[in-house]
Amino acid sequence: QTGPTGCPVTAGAAAFDPFEDGYQQDPPDYVRWSREQEPVFFSPRLGYWVVTRYDDIKAIFRDNLTFSPSIALEKITPTGPEANAVLAQYGFALNRTLVNEDEPAHMPRRRVLMEPFTPEHLKAHEPLVRQLAREYVDRFIDDGRADLVDQMLWEVPLTVALHFLGVPEDDMDQLRQYSIAHTVNTWGRPKPEEQVAVAHAVGNFWQLAGQILDKMRQDPEAPGWMQYGLRQQREHPEVVTDSYLHSMMMAGIVAAHETTANATANAMKLLLQHPHVWREICEDPSLIPNAVEECLRHNGSVAAWRRLVTADTQVGGIDIPAGSKLLIVTSSANHDERHFADADLLDIRRDNASDHLTFGYGSHQCMGKNLARMEMQIFLEEFTRRLPHMRLAEQTFSYVPNTSFRGPEHLWVEWDPARNPERTQP
Ligand code: HEM
Repeated sequence: QTGPTGCPVTAGAAAFDPFEDGYQQDPPDYVRWSREQEPVFFSPRLGYWVVTRYDDIKAIFRDNLTFSPSIALEKITPTGPEANAVLAQYGFALNRTLVNEDEPAHMPRRRVLMEPFTPEHLKAHEPLVRQLAREYVDRFIDDGRADLVDQMLWEVPLTVALHFLGVPEDDMDQLRQYSIAHTVNTWGRPKPEEQVAVAHAVGNFWQLAGQILDKMRQDPEAPGWMQYGLRQQREHPEVVTDSYLHSMMMAGIVAAHETTANATANAMKLLLQHPHVWREICEDPSLIPNAVEECLRHNGSVAAWRRLVTADTQVGGIDIPAGSKLLIVTSSANHDERHFADADLLDIRRDNASDHLTFGYGSHQCMGKNLARMEMQIFLEEFTRRLPHMRLAEQTFSYVPNTSFRGPEHLWVEWDPARNPERTQP
């Protein structure tokens, strides 16, 4: 077998399949062979070049002209005509938001929409996160057993995301059902018979996002990032376009919700798999902020991202022609020994933990990273304080098969309620 440039495809490259359980369970381990032997390879199954080393990936993020983000939200598995007809019937037209916008349009838009992400503005969301975290733990603290994903970590970041965006309370429930469909539609490999159902859900999500946006237009002074965007549109109509607002109303929910829900579930799983580390943060919560960073590095919720090559170039010394698509496996970069000493070790005192690429890097780096960090820190503070004797239950972990968004679908933990600190030291 040969790749698009005529080079032979090695056995590892031919076998690479990011929809397989091996990748889902542990992406950096699945591509260890690549990091060590063939850090840039063409995957014939995916039709993408795959990049797995830290320095190569950072260089790609740094140059967003040669490596365009325009395909970041493109369907990685093209859908068949039936699903496409369903999407068309809903008028589905998800287009550029920020994450997939090229220059020169991207930077001015990012700039005028940044203020709600500044630390002073984010502080306003802290009481809600704390209150929700406490209420959800209250519901199961006496049970001795919980699925942290189903009973808390899926819902709380969604509610926070909807508040951050400014979605009215009475529209929240409907939106909750559709979010996952966008992930499968964009980064998954739904079977032909699933594609139509996914297309209906995505179409409904798209229309609902439009209706909610119209409602927001009636009250643009209300709090929320979308309303902030509507107000900025008055001053900068060519920068904050209608197409952007509608697309972001849909994509923004996923950007803020699933990423953070999955990141917290991944972090809790990882910490409980290392009981001595868990004990340390229970005893000294000041370790939590760096522990969050180390969890994002070691077991982050975005496993890989995408770029389109706009001009003939080289990555890691390999010629890559214009028009090529790249899957940049950021989770692999985060385990690159060339950048992180003893990279597979969970070290919550690691001084370069925050060099991880889970939030991307450069001009498109995640705008919501500090909101995500704040949520994760608060969840860990509440769990370590109220359920320090929690442990992982026996279970096998499953993941929604897709290249990019990664977190266990369920996370069962257990504890002895008689030992709850608030019972023993009321
Ligand atoms: C962009 C990851 C949470 C909003 C991104 C990118 C990644 C990412 C990988 C693309 C970066 C690049 O191309 O360089 C994550 C992870 C999160 C998280 C792992 C949680 C742990 C959030 C939250 C919000 C958010 C909570 C919003 C409230 C955005 C936006 C962009 C973005 C608006 C586009 C920025 C741009 O292109 O200029 N995120 N994200 N994210 N994220 Fe996040």
